[in-house]
Amino acid sequence: MRRLWMLTLMAAPTLGAAVAADRLAELRARMDTLQDARDDLRDALDAKDGAKTAALSSEIVRLLQQDTALWKEPGFDDVLKINQETIELAEKISTQAKSGERQHALESYLALQKSCAACHDLHPEKRLH
Ligand code: HEC
Repeated sequence: MRRLWMLTLMAAPTLGAAVAADRLAELRARMDTLQDARDDLRDALDAKDGAKTAALSSEIVRLLQQDTALWKEPGFDDVLKINQETIELAEKISTQAKSGERQHALESYLALQKSCAACHDLHPEKRLH
């Protein structure tokens, strides 16, 4: 029994690290999809394709919403805030695209780009454990 307890104690930190690595791998995979969606969104804006712009920004909303649970964990308040702001910007692009406000949608797109970078600058991955 005592031996088992010792083994559990020894395995715990390794297990924790493995879980963090898994969550990070999952997050990075989603981020890659997010990057593709953002590139396609830029193309749709340039092509003045309102329907495609709206669809892609909704896809970005959906992807970012999948991270929300993670950032709701303790210690990520600042990250959660940027996650929400980025979601709101993507929603705004969708609304603007649907009502044909292409110039406004383009401005929101530039703000979205900054919002992605603002989160990366915080390096939330260093806090994941
Ligand atoms: C709320 C935080 C947050 C927001 C917002 C965010 N990201 Fe990320 N992103 C991360 C974290 C954390 C990582 C992992 C960084 C690492 O481990 O090096 C990451 C990594 C990435 C990567 C690299 C993935 C890889 O394979 O290593 C790309 C590309 C990326 N993000 C694109 C985007 C784009 C595009 C947006 C905006 C539409 C965005 N991100 C918004 C937190 C965020």
